[in-house]
Amino acid sequence: MLEIEDLSVEVGGKEVLHDVNLSVMAGYTNVLFGPNGSGKSTLLMTIMGFSGYKITKGRILFNDEDITNVPVSDRAKKGIGLMMQRPPNLVGVKLGNLVKVMSHDQKDPQVLAKDLDLTSFLQRDVNVGFSGGEIKRSELMQLEAQNPCLVMLDEPESGVDMVSIQKVGHKIHDLIHGTSCAGKRGQTGKAALVITHTGQILDYVEADRGYVMCKGTIACMGNPRELLHEIRSKGYDECISCKLKRKKAEPISVTEA
Ligand SMILES: Nc1ncnc2c1ncn2[C@@H]1O[C@H](COP(=O)(O)OP(=O)(O)OP(=O)(O)O)[C@@H](O)[C@H]1O
Ligand SMILES: [Mg+2]
Repeated sequence: MLEIEDLSVEVGGKEVLHDVNLSVMAGYTNVLFGPNGSGKSTLLMTIMGFSGYKITKGRILFNDEDITNVPVSDRAKKGIGLMMQRPPNLVGVKLGNLVKVMSHDQKDPQVLAKDLDLTSFLQRDVNVGFSGGEIKRSELMQLEAQNPCLVMLDEPESGVDMVSIQKVGHKIHDLIHGTSCAGKRGQTGKAALVITHTGQILDYVEADRGYVMCKGTIACMGNPRELLHEIRSKGYDECISCKLKRKKAEPISVTEA
């Protein structure tokens, strides 16, 4: 469903992503690990199509269509959705109204909000004064309303308390593994790309492949649980040195872990 080919991206005049190659097939959930500042959020923001992320090389394919230059609103309509790590405050936009507009099949905001304990937030401006955990739940509610085919989650468990994580985790499971989505061309199968540091979300979603991003490029890929174990025990240095060794031996940018 998603194919990233040799993607290089500049943000604020600086090249943040270099020659990124990554793919997610329909029906699959891929996980993205990597140290702080390695470029994970930049990749998701670029796939979503936000301005300020200048693609200098490569392309993005969604369902075999080149969407490299397609505006963010059209990408959303085609079935791409993102839970942002740090969404902006939308002063003057009520959360309930936003959810109503985002809902492709007139889902009732009251029903969506009740499940995530957000009923009293529907009349508030989006994200204004929300706590970290409240922002995550609000982002999740918006994604539920949109019901995208490609579900991208940027650190969905970060800042969520130990009790809420179960509710959030199960909701995310249903969102990703649910059977139908709001894409064009009658598409129903979903795909997901999830950024996580702790791997906590892996208790709730069935992940198929893991990628490690280091210094703006994909250092390795493999079984997500094995990668997590390796990172926990050896840190990220192993990934970087593995990539450097491989690069010397064979000039490819994506290597099996
Ligand atoms: N607008 C910008 N101007 C300058 N540098 C930027 C800008 N946006 C991002 N960067 C830089 O790009 C790099 C990658 O940032 P990004 O947010 O993608 O990292 P990340 O892997 O998501 O990190 P984290 O795990 O901390 O969320 C960082 O060094 C960041 O400071
Ligand atoms: Mg980030």
